[in-house]
Amino acid sequence: MERVVIKIGGSLISSQGEEVLDYIHGLSSVLASLNNYSLALVVGGGETARKYVSLARELGLSVYDQDILGIEATRLNAKLLAGFIPRAWPNVPRTVDEAGEIVELGYIPVMGGTVPGHTTNTVAALLAEAIGARLVNLTNVDGIYDKDPREHPDAKKFDRMSYEQLIKLAAMYDSREARAHFVFDLLASKIVARSGVELHIVDGRDLETVKKAILGEEHNGTVVSE
Ligand code: UTP
Repeated sequence: MERVVIKIGGSLISSQGEEVLDYIHGLSSVLASLNNYSLALVVGGGETARKYVSLARELGLSVYDQDILGIEATRLNAKLLAGFIPRAWPNVPRTVDEAGEIVELGYIPVMGGTVPGHTTNTVAALLAEAIGARLVNLTNVDGIYDKDPREHPDAKKFDRMSYEQLIKLAAMYDSREARAHFVFDLLASKIVARSGVELHIVDGRDLETVKKAILGEEHNGTVVSE
């Protein structure tokens, strides 16, 4: 069975109200329709993580402890989805190895972060590397651009790009302390590159596109490969 790791951006599920409920229902029916695929989910921390990380920072907690709080927020989001998505393993795995074992058992692991110092994109890249999967990254932009499209109206989207191009862009935006944000961070980019993990960056709100990317069909996001 083909294996696919799906990274769900925290921003897609950590807001509140009808919209997020509809979204979780929609995503869950897409995943339920993909019985012929072996899936694994990694969930980001979104607003919840940002709130706790910034409170911890203002209280003077160490950066290590800020990350620990961020990880707890990602696991809270993961637990919510694990309780709802069909075939999901009910407990949130705390390591990539544990998630791999759940995949071997034929269930869908739903995990968040693992250890301080990196992001859930890196966790998703490591999991895809470990289990030999493609990686579909559901985020709140519709692909990778040559410059930030919010600031540059003339920014161009890549349909396809190489690992080398991805790493170059990720390196330009790699200043974690300043909270600069690139859609797929540098460490995660280097991991997909070293193992040739095929990476799809798609707008997670567009469930048609999400489904196509999981199926490996043409879609309107960005595909990163050799
Ligand atoms: P993420 O940065 O991965 O979630 O984790 P996000 O902000 O929702 O990002 P997207 O939108 O899904 O890409 C939130 C915080 O949790 C800590 C970091 O502090 C990170 O900023 N974290 C997460 C870790 O320290 N280790 C992990 O493995 C995961």
